[in-house]
Amino acid sequence: MAEIVIVDRDGKEHRVAGRVGVSVMETLRDLDFGVAAICGGMCSCATCHVWVDADWQARLPAVQGDEKELLRELASYKPSSRLSCQVMFTEDLSGLKVAIAPDE
Ligand code: FES
Repeated sequence: MAEIVIVDRDGKEHRVAGRVGVSVMETLRDLDFGVAAICGGMCSCATCHVWVDADWQARLPAVQGDEKELLRELASYKPSSRLSCQVMFTEDLSGLKVAIAPDE
């Protein structure tokens, strides 16, 4: 089972089964950690914003175009920021650790 380690907004860590072959957002949205994913993965709402753990940042594809622009507009932006709807979850990413960013 491929897992995602999620740090919720209270700083508590959870290990959950990740849905392989869809974006990380799809797993987060099904849980009760406040990821609204309002735009449904169209890279236009930023309600799926996460911070990726330092050990995992280099293992993800680089941030591109629209995602980069949207992230930079966020008050909670950090270099580790990603829109989880733009990160495809695969077996190779089992153990990926992300922290859910504040609601903006
Ligand atoms: S779900 Fe809207 S930007 Fe990711």
